[in-house]
Amino acid sequence: MTDATTNRPRRIGVLTSGGDAPGMNAAIRAVVRTGLSRGWEVYGVRDGYAGLVDGRFRPLQSRDVGGILHRGGTVLGSARCPEFRTQEGQQRALGHLRDAGLDGLVVIGGNGTQTGTHALHELGVPVVGVASTIDNDLLGSDITIGVDSALNTALEAVDRLKTTASSHRRAFLVEVMGRDCGYLALVTAIASGAETVVVPEHPTTPERVAAELRAAYARGNDHAVGIVGEGSEPGTSQLLEYCNARQEELGFELRATVLGHVQRGAAPGAFDRMLGSRLGAGAVERLAEGEHGVLVGLLGRRVATTPLAEVIGGTKSVDPALLELADTLAS
Ligand code: F6P
Repeated sequence: MTDATTNRPRRIGVLTSGGDAPGMNAAIRAVVRTGLSRGWEVYGVRDGYAGLVDGRFRPLQSRDVGGILHRGGTVLGSARCPEFRTQEGQQRALGHLRDAGLDGLVVIGGNGTQTGTHALHELGVPVVGVASTIDNDLLGSDITIGVDSALNTALEAVDRLKTTASSHRRAFLVEVMGRDCGYLALVTAIASGAETVVVPEHPTTPERVAAELRAAYARGNDHAVGIVGEGSEPGTSQLLEYCNARQEELGFELRATVLGHVQRGAAPGAFDRMLGSRLGAGAVERLAEGEHGVLVGLLGRRVATTPLAEVIGGTKSVDPALLELADTLAS
């Protein structure tokens, strides 16, 4: 397919931005190969918006994205780029896009990233976002690229911690990522069989968490596990301090493990490889149809688009039914 005004093949760019997520490489690969299959040229932009501001682009061929499907992270690199939030930064990016003759852009990333995508859309760039973040806080996609793999990493860690916890009759707090969104914490708690969970959306008290951990021993458990979402109230250190100051009264010793970026570094599982492939290909198809300014995500079982204007500025709220399920199954 050629560009009507320049009579050359259409040329699009692809970048990954914000926190990396397992499955981003599958999405890059799908963008490149779907674009090439249409006779387009596809350019990779290095290091997210930083590479857009500096004009670091290079053409990608099919072999350039071979052997990456099973790898975590992003082969294009990612960055958090404060400069792109400024008007000057955005104008520099526009200039480089023009100079390189890019007439479409696919931006793979989460909430902050898609705010940048929306800014580009407002500046007239034909741009499509792809929903990717381990936090699963992005509106416009029921589940985002990376969540499933990050969740499985957290589960593996909790399973291991339970082994050592049982040997010592200890209790453990496991802090998981998610920024301000409790999704990963909640689902980790349900799928690992944790005794209690604290999410940022619902502040609680150290007394309640201590009582729920204690109740596990009263039921005959030889260990107890609490999952704490990053940014929750009370946080991990406050809980640790509270419980260990009352160790004798509570009857258990508490340790804590912060999983942090370990969750981001996983190799993508089957789900994220499929999701990345479907959403990456979907983004190119949207551009081919002349649809821009949208986020490509999974809604129900279908690849679907939502206007970026509806995606940015809000986040998904935690599902009360899942909170209730966590509570019921922990008793
Ligand atoms: O958005 C993904 C995420 O991993 C969040 O869960 C976390 O709060 C943040 O990124 C960490 O950011 P950074 O990698 O810049 O430390």
